[in-house]
Amino acid sequence: MSIRTIVTVPHPVLRQKAGKVTTFDQELQTLIDDMIETMRAAPGVGLAAPQVNVPLRLFVAEYGDDDDPDAPVQTYVFINPRIVAASRETEVGVEGCLSIPGLVGEVIRAQRITVNGLDRHGKPLKMEAHGWLARIFQHEIDHLDGVLFTDHALRVWRPEEETEPHPAAD
Ligand code: NI
Repeated sequence: MSIRTIVTVPHPVLRQKAGKVTTFDQELQTLIDDMIETMRAAPGVGLAAPQVNVPLRLFVAEYGDDDDPDAPVQTYVFINPRIVAASRETEVGVEGCLSIPGLVGEVIRAQRITVNGLDRHGKPLKMEAHGWLARIFQHEIDHLDGVLFTDHALRVWRPEEETEPHPAAD
């Protein structure tokens, strides 16, 4: 395993629509392991393949449980993920992104989603997620379509600056 370089804006791969994964070979397994290691080293709670300059539809995430602070952290790997259901109920939360250093923003996300996809071996995978995990999944799936949180943030700001938040530029 090795830590890969995380690309940052304005790298064009971050704006590309990633292609479907069709081959579940050793190269893919190495990519997944590298992405997990890279996410942990960053550190971050999610990482999409385009962020390591690989325009493929997969992401990794690592998170515990909103409802149980003592629950162990779980590692998720989703290949070709697709949101097949989303709650009408939404939540506003503050997000950041390893590809947009130094910036955070308030983003509206569905409170609960159902994601279909494949696991790392190509077997069908279906998961329901809510709260922060649902937010992570939505953020990472956006990356696969070249969408960044700043595109639909209510407002963005630099937390290291002790200034008032200002509206998103776009
Ligand atoms: Ni991100």
